[in-house]
Amino acid sequence: MKFDVLSLFPEMIYGAFREGIVAQALKEEKIALKVWNPRDQSQDVHKTVDDRPFGGGDGMVMLPEILNKTLSQIPREKSSRVIYLSPQGQKLSHQKVLELKEYQQLVLICGRYGGIDERFIESFVDEELSVGDYVVSGGEIPAMIVIDAVSRQIPGVLGNKDSAAIESFSGGLLEHPQYTRPQSWNGKEVPQVLLSGHHEKIETWKRESQLSRTLERRPDLLVGRDLKKPEFEKACEDLGLRHRIAVGLVHYPVYNKGGEVVSTNVTNLDIHDIARACRSYGIDRYYIITPAEEQLSFVGRVLEHWQEGRGIQYNPTRKDSLINVRLARSFEEAYLDWGEKDALKVATSARQISGPKPVRFPQLREIALKKPVFLLFGTGWGLENTFVRSMDLLLEPVWGRSPQGFRHLSVRSAVSIVLDRLFGSCY
Ligand SMILES: C[S@@+](CC[C@H](N)C(=O)[O-])C[C@H]1O[C@@H](n2cnc3c(N)ncnc32)[C@H](O)[C@@H]1O
Repeated sequence: MKFDVLSLFPEMIYGAFREGIVAQALKEEKIALKVWNPRDQSQDVHKTVDDRPFGGGDGMVMLPEILNKTLSQIPREKSSRVIYLSPQGQKLSHQKVLELKEYQQLVLICGRYGGIDERFIESFVDEELSVGDYVVSGGEIPAMIVIDAVSRQIPGVLGNKDSAAIESFSGGLLEHPQYTRPQSWNGKEVPQVLLSGHHEKIETWKRESQLSRTLERRPDLLVGRDLKKPEFEKACEDLGLRHRIAVGLVHYPVYNKGGEVVSTNVTNLDIHDIARACRSYGIDRYYIITPAEEQLSFVGRVLEHWQEGRGIQYNPTRKDSLINVRLARSFEEAYLDWGEKDALKVATSARQISGPKPVRFPQLREIALKKPVFLLFGTGWGLENTFVRSMDLLLEPVWGRSPQGFRHLSVRSAVSIVLDRLFGSCY
């Protein structure tokens, strides 16, 4: 891997890699590093590399032509990527590091002052990378981070060939805690299992520690993983965490199109489609909530048909999809039946309703890893306002791209989209 860095401060970069793992890798020629100073391309006596921004504002902007001349000096490998380190770029991650290590050459552009001329970025930069949501004074430290993180992934750079593979993030989890001598220090002991010499038990302890550490500190890393797997269930149990979700389809109290509070009829499609979505996303219970006795007995008949009646011969898989469906006369009855006493009550609505605390999808994804959540969906024209206000949280509406702001989804679509945003594995 060749790293070519465009920087006004070459010594910052070279200095950072005079010692340590990257220095060793440079010495052993496992990687190569060269810094190119744009100032060398400046023709005037002051060696100017920047100018004031058009339109005014603080901070000088680096000149595109000087950067262009510097970039064209660099011999390019066949597989090469030009990266501008920028707070506006995609955030650097373990995944991105693995992707970058596949190139033969990374050309890293370090901005200074107010940044660099946008036209240079548009013309020559393949991608912009950020090291986090804050601004540092120049791209040099971010470039060093890229060089260091990518170098560690190059075979032979780390002493033990496995050490990059077991570090934090490599399996999507944080690393387990580490201990060294002495066994007892500052009144604290090394966990007994690590001294046992029992290889299998040690491995199990490491894995369990990784899971519980990740659940506690970075639950966002676990979003989209199958938390129903026994190892996650155990880690959750050990930490007193429970990944428990219930969905309620409310038929009363909801609005009709005239704005009146009504009780709607249960539809066959809602029974089946929502049950299937809930089953697919690992939801514990799907409550169909209606106070109307004839509606309850209608749903009861439908369930009976598919679970015990002639429906089994017609389509045996329906039984499985309906396994978590329950009936309740009210939300309170459903909540009690579920038995999760401290479950958060979360309403959904296409409308903005003042009162309950709003919650966004990413926040609720994290909350749901730590607390049981009861998600409520309204039929008709949506959940009645006082009902919504009696909930703990109101989930942000599902927004699409309709230019006119149209967002009248069927409740079945809304449930599927919400479940996927909260518990799906693809984002
Ligand atoms: C003071 S910053 C300019 C910030 C720019 N005016 C803005 O608000 O987007 C100077 C340079 O530092 C680098 N830089 C600053 N923060 C960064 C971050 N979070 N990640 C990567 N590079 C960063 C960029 O190369 C940038 O051109």
